[in-house]
Amino acid sequence: MALGSFGMAQSVKGTRDLLGNEMKWFQRIEDTARRIFHRHGYEEIRTPILEEIDVFKRSVGESSDIVNKEMYDFVDKGGRHVVMRPENTAGVVRAMIQHKLLATSDPRLLYYIGPQFRYERMQAGRYRQFWQIGAESFGVATPESEAESLVMLFDFLNELGLKHLKLSINSVGTPESRPAFQAAFRAFFEARQEAFCGDCHRRIAQNPLRVLDCKVPGCQTALEGHPRITDHLDEASRAHHARLKVLLEALGVPYEENPRLVRGLDYYTRTAFEVLSADLGAQSALLGGGRYDGLVSHLDGPPTPAFGWAIGLDRLASLMQQLHGDAPAPRPALLIPLGEAAALEAMALARKWWAEGCAVQVDTRGQGLKKALQTANRLGFARALILGDGEREQGVVAVKDLAAGTQETWPLDQVAQRLSTV
Ligand code: HAM
Repeated sequence: MALGSFGMAQSVKGTRDLLGNEMKWFQRIEDTARRIFHRHGYEEIRTPILEEIDVFKRSVGESSDIVNKEMYDFVDKGGRHVVMRPENTAGVVRAMIQHKLLATSDPRLLYYIGPQFRYERMQAGRYRQFWQIGAESFGVATPESEAESLVMLFDFLNELGLKHLKLSINSVGTPESRPAFQAAFRAFFEARQEAFCGDCHRRIAQNPLRVLDCKVPGCQTALEGHPRITDHLDEASRAHHARLKVLLEALGVPYEENPRLVRGLDYYTRTAFEVLSADLGAQSALLGGGRYDGLVSHLDGPPTPAFGWAIGLDRLASLMQQLHGDAPAPRPALLIPLGEAAALEAMALARKWWAEGCAVQVDTRGQGLKKALQTANRLGFARALILGDGEREQGVVAVKDLAAGTQETWPLDQVAQRLSTV
């Protein structure tokens, strides 16, 4: 059936095309991330978008909104129940186990950049296909490894010139220490249960920590004076949390403690954190992460401590646009040949200059000087390089600075050297 009979095809709700300025910010951010992460010894990993459903049920957790309500899951033609990944940590852990990369206890540092899928309610800054940049560190249980990862994160955010960021931290304890907190919290909840919403009543039975995270204003008010997880930690978790705070202070990473921060995924142990931006509006969470020491063994790998985080790239790009305006774009020169013979020579010259690393585009439309210059201006080129018969005879190009309107002549054998300074 012809598409036309339904009107013009549109992108699926919650997904969008990345192009123009937004795409340029994505590229800038990704380039910066790679440069900084490589300095810290992190290696890139790409895992498949499709994973078996159990990977997320067993990690992110059956009681989480992500698994409960938001998964893009389906049965494929071979009868496998698969999911378009809602996040990347579980897939990275699955890959590490599958390829036996955690067989020794050596540290492993990995990062990823890629799309994630969650069937969420649409809001500004919230998409059904969104992008994350994440970093995961395996094999080290110390607060020092967390500080190292957080320093890399803030070096990255600072390099992008971001301001008004708030790092909130908490400790969610360990599965062993959590029952003590849960008992105290259930008692608190029961004493004022009518003030909590229906979802919270479900949460208190399934996963009491989630009540702390409820977005309903009445529940947040009812939580006033709630028992704190950090007051019910085992001794090792308490020392871990205290040491992380000492390290962050010494390294000049400002933070604040948020006793209600529990995160929406089940795999965290001890440190959990988020970075919020005052400039983001309602969806203020720019990134989140924490320690997940139980996840590798839970997915049948060798017991391996781990820590990591993921940034929402869509939100980061929108912040960059707000703070810095349009992404700085390299504006290469446009080489304009006049006539057929010049067109051939221009292609050969451009090939030589490209091989030397220069940014230059060739006008292949053969449309005459006036029109070609109009195009160059409209597309925002910095310079036009004009190659007519006169220039060819003399072995030069006429170089027009399109912003200034000035013109000079460059010998052909100097073009590469002078262009590379553009
Ligand atoms: P998360 O908090 O679910 O954590 O997601 C991290 C970030 O992804 C959020 O702070 C937000 O910026 C962005 N994000 C999430 N959902 C959407 C959406 N629908 N539209 C736009 N952006 C969104 C994780 O995914 C964990 N895997 C992080 C982690 C890595 N923990 C340990 N290692």
